Amino acid sequence: MCGIVGVIGRRPAAPLLLDALRRLEYRGYDSAGMATLVEGRIERRRAQGKLDRLAERLASEPLPGTTGIGHTRWATHGVPNETNAHPHLSEGVAVVHNGIIENFQELRAELVARGHHFATQTDTEVVPHLIGAGLARGLDPKEAAVAAVRRLKGAFALAMLFEGCDDLLIVARKGSPLAIGYGEGEMFVGSDALALAPLTERIQYLEEGDVAFLSRRGAMILDAEGNEAERPIRQTALSGALIGKGNHRHFMEKEIFEQPAVLGDTLRSFADPATHRITLPELPFDFQAVSRVAAVACGTASYACLVGKYWLESLAGLPVDWDIASEFRYRASPLVPGQVGLFVSQSGETADTLAAMRHLRGEGCPALAVVNVPESTLAREADATLRTLAGPEIGVASTKAFTTQLATLACLAVGAARARGRLDPEREAALTKALDELPARILQVLEKDQEIRAIAAELMAARDVLYVGRGTSYAIALEGALKLKEISYIHAEAYAAGELKHGPIALIDEHVPVIVVAPRDHLFEKTASNLQEVVARGGKVVLLSDAAGVAELGDYAWKTVTLPEVDPFVAPILYAVPVQLLAYHTAVLKGTDVDQPRNLAKSVTVE
Ligand code: F6R
Repeated sequence: MCGIVGVIGRRPAAPLLLDALRRLEYRGYDSAGMATLVEGRIERRRAQGKLDRLAERLASEPLPGTTGIGHTRWATHGVPNETNAHPHLSEGVAVVHNGIIENFQELRAELVARGHHFATQTDTEVVPHLIGAGLARGLDPKEAAVAAVRRLKGAFALAMLFEGCDDLLIVARKGSPLAIGYGEGEMFVGSDALALAPLTERIQYLEEGDVAFLSRRGAMILDAEGNEAERPIRQTALSGALIGKGNHRHFMEKEIFEQPAVLGDTLRSFADPATHRITLPELPFDFQAVSRVAAVACGTASYACLVGKYWLESLAGLPVDWDIASEFRYRASPLVPGQVGLFVSQSGETADTLAAMRHLRGEGCPALAVVNVPESTLAREADATLRTLAGPEIGVASTKAFTTQLATLACLAVGAARARGRLDPEREAALTKALDELPARILQVLEKDQEIRAIAAELMAARDVLYVGRGTSYAIALEGALKLKEISYIHAEAYAAGELKHGPIALIDEHVPVIVVAPRDHLFEKTASNLQEVVARGGKVVLLSDAAGVAELGDYAWKTVTLPEVDPFVAPILYAVPVQLLAYHTAVLKGTDVDQPRNLAKSVTVE
């Protein structure tokens, strides 16, 4: 989490830094700050709260200078106030930092013993002090920065600014992403290429352990061993315009409504509508020889993996272990011969997912990543990548990334099933056709927007909401509950419908709405019985089903949403949309910050 930017240029730095920070605000938004060199001296402005507070501060106290660094924070160590906001200063050095310095206490104690005074509660502040100590020993800024970085443990990306050095920015990467941008007589640095999109299309990614010295003419990179290193400069296709809200009130709304288009793009990259066949890129394993898949991710992406598990098991006959990355990485899960790892992530930078992948790869297990950001660390380190073509997702709550992950996993399951000889051409054609038709069906769901808003108007009064479903709908129930709690702050939990009577049914009364995700699949009648059990206890059911499902059960429900009839195979993708809309409208009606919910950040680069 946290976004960092830097510029060493010809134009006033502060407006460029502010614009780049706006594009990184998804990484954290509890406080922000920047520092520039003004006649060789470091000047800094910081503010608690969102970037608009910093912009206001800059309007009343402008920051001149053409070289500077900036930061938008998601607090790890120290409360989100102005004192703890970056950049942190000491002895002519300013530092912005993304990640966690795990040995900061030990370093801080050592520095305090040597007479250093600390002003903040952050882990970051040890960095300018360490560099300052190096400068005091007679090292030059480059030597002092390298010496300091080599003492840091943990995961971090750093940008450093030095008093009196107008043509120098030093950056370092270990565990957190960092991109260098090449301009004409100016250089940039940012946590991702999106931050730099309006400034340059020429991007260079630092690798683990790299330290780079930037001047207006270019960058000199040292690798982890201290040797000069070349890193490719890539042309990025990201454009500055991509991150507008269009006519929508929130990014989340825009991203929900983009789903027919981005699902179409994603599906077309795997499925040929003429032949009704799925084509997967070359994979580093043969599906016939795969004995087990470890499917690992965090949050919403983990629910995509859970749906993937049901699909891979039922279609391809492949055993799948579904895991949350933060658990998996520390669990001694024994590798079996023929195992492959499947890692799903929108950002491709989620610390736990990356660590889980590195752990498995280290054991010799091939890793397949499903990723939205093509230049991300996960995409670069995996043995093979399947791209979701969702485009930039800015709203913190994942929507189009989730459904494109599902679409990609659906194609993977079909491809795996064919490779394992478990799918006849007729069934494959039927599944591919169901996928082809999905964008059109989702458009029909989006037409229900106002109907769902009316339900949200009643849901917003609830203190607790339950979501239930069976099979792949259980995963959609989990996703629905997560969406509702993270943006509306209403407590929501999801259960496999069959689990209700093993405890949670005790919660049911007339105040607890129960969202029942019930496409008419082979489990529909089972879910119908669970719905009756809820109704019998006075529960208020919101039923999501197709016309026949609503005809059968609608009379028992408090509210219904009638969804288009689809092949049960693609139902989880379709049913994801109404639960997104329900959460979205509930949050808007409650007046919460939909795109930037409290305490969260989009890219979780700390464990
Ligand atoms: C919830 C949400 C998160 C992410 C999770 C993983 O709406 O967006 O739960 O799904 O933090 O992020 P990625 O997909 O970037 O690895």
